[in-house]
This record gives sequence, C-alpha cells and structure tokens, in this order.
Amino acid sequence: MAFLNWEPSLLLGVDDMDGEHKVLIAKMNEIHDRVAAGASKAVLTPLLDGLADVTKKHFAHEEALMRAANYAGFENHAWVHKDLLTKLDKHLQAFRAGTGTIGDDFFAFLRLWLTAHIQGIDKKYAPVLGKRVA
Ligand SMILES: [Fe+2]
Ligand SMILES: [Fe+2]
Repeated sequence: MAFLNWEPSLLLGVDDMDGEHKVLIAKMNEIHDRVAAGASKAVLTPLLDGLADVTKKHFAHEEALMRAANYAGFENHAWVHKDLLTKLDKHLQAFRAGTGTIGDDFFAFLRLWLTAHIQGIDKKYAPVLGKRVA
C-alpha cells in the first residue's frame, strides 16, 4: 500500500489540476518508498528537488487558472501556496544540512498538504474552474 493513495475524493474535475495532483502524489510516494528502502542522501536529493520544482510549477499554473477565472478566493489561495512553499523549503534546507535522513515530520507535512490543501482549499475552486477548463 502506497504512503498516499489516489482516491475519488481528490478529484476536482479540472483536468489539468487533477493530472498535476496525481504527479505530485506519485513523487511523494516515490520519496517515501526510497526513504523506507534506506536510500542515500545522494539519491534522495534530486527527488526532493524534483518535488519542489513540480510543486512550484503546479502552484503557478493553478494560480494562473484562478486569476483567469476571476476566482474570488485567489488572494487567500495564493497566500496559502506561498506558505506551503516556505515550509517545504525549510524541510529541504534541513535535509541538505543534515546527514540525509528524512523524519516523520516531513511525511506528516506531506500528508497534511494532501488532505488540507487538495481536499480542502483546492476543492473550493473546482466549481468555478471546472466549468471553464473541462
Ligand atoms: Fe493544487
Ligand atoms: Fe492549491
């Protein structure tokens, strides 16, 4: 069983965003599996950098769609993205400064991201963006 499972409750009906969320979850699962298998810092570093890169692109894409749709929750959502990126960056900085271990706090952060963000505030734009993008 994967660390994070794709489930119907994550589906927004905004095709581009659903596809990108699936990629994010796959990357999170890969990192979790590699850590469980005892992967080295050298192996984990590009995976974590890749997650950060895909996340930044996803947030930018999501914000562009929200802005184009004049979504009323845009400002708040963009702030939450910024906060999430700051937290992700702190985790990555701690990882780079350390010996290559990734603690449970990082995975708790990823799990919260999935449940509170995608199932929480991303879901709120679905009725607005879904009509335009579908
Ligand atoms: Fe998202
Ligand atoms: Fe979002």
